[in-house]
Amino acid sequence: MSTSPHTPAFSDPAHAAPPARERVLIFDTTLRDGEQAPGCSMTRAQKLRMARVLEELGVDIIEAGFPAASEVDAAAVAAVAGAMRRARIGALARCQEGDIVTAARALEAAAQARIHLFLATSPIHREHKLHMSKAQVLDTAVAAVRRACALCGDVEFSAEDALRTEPEFLIEVFTAVIAAGARTINVPDTVGYTTPAEIAALFARLRREVVGIERAVLSTHCHDDLGMGVANSLAAIEAGARQVECTLNGIGERAGNAALEEVVMALRTRADRYALDTGIDSTRLYAASRALSGTIGLEVARNKAIVGDNAFAHEAGIHQHGMLVNRTTYEIMRPEDVGFPHTRLVLGRHSGRHALRERISTLGLGIDDARFETVFTAFKTLAESKREVLDADVEALVLGTAVHARGPWMLAALHVGTYVGGASIASLHLRHVDGREARETATGSGPVHAVTAALVRASGLALEIIELRVRSIGLGAGAQGEAVLRVQHDAQELRGRGTSTDIVEAAALAMLEVVNRIERTQPRALANPTHPHDGNSHHDDEARHVSVA
Ligand code: KIV
Ligand code: ZN
Repeated sequence: MSTSPHTPAFSDPAHAAPPARERVLIFDTTLRDGEQAPGCSMTRAQKLRMARVLEELGVDIIEAGFPAASEVDAAAVAAVAGAMRRARIGALARCQEGDIVTAARALEAAAQARIHLFLATSPIHREHKLHMSKAQVLDTAVAAVRRACALCGDVEFSAEDALRTEPEFLIEVFTAVIAAGARTINVPDTVGYTTPAEIAALFARLRREVVGIERAVLSTHCHDDLGMGVANSLAAIEAGARQVECTLNGIGERAGNAALEEVVMALRTRADRYALDTGIDSTRLYAASRALSGTIGLEVARNKAIVGDNAFAHEAGIHQHGMLVNRTTYEIMRPEDVGFPHTRLVLGRHSGRHALRERISTLGLGIDDARFETVFTAFKTLAESKREVLDADVEALVLGTAVHARGPWMLAALHVGTYVGGASIASLHLRHVDGREARETATGSGPVHAVTAALVRASGLALEIIELRVRSIGLGAGAQGEAVLRVQHDAQELRGRGTSTDIVEAAALAMLEVVNRIERTQPRALANPTHPHDGNSHHDDEARHVSVA
């Protein structure tokens, strides 16, 4: 597991010698608190898949669900408990007999299990939700902890809405539940209300005044309603928390929970300040984030810290120049440390000469200084009308070819069939400018999948699709669809873009753009060229060119 630490800020972590450090436990609640959020629910199979991702990532505790909430959730917790061997599996339960027994039953197959009890302690919750006095809350919590300890060797107690609870009462409750057997004391900021200074002061006080606190792990659980979930978690850690509850991509109730990837990378990147390790293999963070967004269909915002598309992308000319000279000028983490494909210098309206020159040379296109100035002027004009100038555009500018007529392969025909409840099938016909032709058919889980699979097969190239996005770029029934692909080929990442009123055709054009780029730099025959061209017409009525409009 890679836990390689960081030395002081702005130095390169790769060569830092790891001193022995204390550990912060990562308690992941993506499958419970995260899954509770609107639009984030997961089936049993999806939870199982994500649990595997989390275990490989190196989280210490996976909270798999709330078994008493539904039979589906109980079954999901049982499935996760039976499949994981390294991570401890947690199940949430209210301080009620039925919940505790149901949680214990769901955890039966776990190699290491934890029952996570919760009861609200704040005056607002006592009065309006529970209708309980302080004494009743205290007695209920203690009785539940005793009952859970009889069924499970590892019990955590959470004082729901702890940050709006009278500190004296919180201290009383925590002292009592530790005496009853709880070994993790969680202090949730259930409504994301606290501030870093406030939570740090509370944790310091709990460490001073809770009797028996040395026998328990103090845990932080922060929500992000005021955008301070991660900052508050880190403040709690600085003040003594040694377990942090968090979720991938920060999903969770309302504005979400503290994002696991942000907490982990803050601890790692600012090890000069925190000097604490986690068991997380940070190089798996990006893949884990994408696995979650793919599973629940919730896209990660471009500007999301650590795992967003823009996290390692630079467009401004001054920044790009700095990055080309030395990456530490504008990057405090290396993309490879979080498993991000690589730094991306985005060519756009803010880019300057250095970045364009670098891209031209990466694309293997020679150009002299005089011609470069002409190309740069044309690039600036193009960048005014496009959000991002793609590699294909740069090639067109340098080679002086028309954007719409590059090829060499063109889409002559495309037929797609979709069967409800079954696979989709795509057949395509490609025509080369030199007269060669290729035909291919492939099936896929949907039409876009089928058509990209057919193109990959026709190309005979080892192409791995890293990302495929389709979206509408207009309004109304006749709106254009846009497909953007990122493809890995020979350790190189290539991007293709296609537009059409037919989104399946747009995906085909995006993939064809990638194939053509490779073909232009390494001319070769496609895998299955058929029907050599007779040399007459080059385009029939169905002919489609790669569009990079
Ligand atoms: O936010 C919260 O209070 C919770 C508890 C159940 C731990 O999620
Ligand atoms: Zn929560």
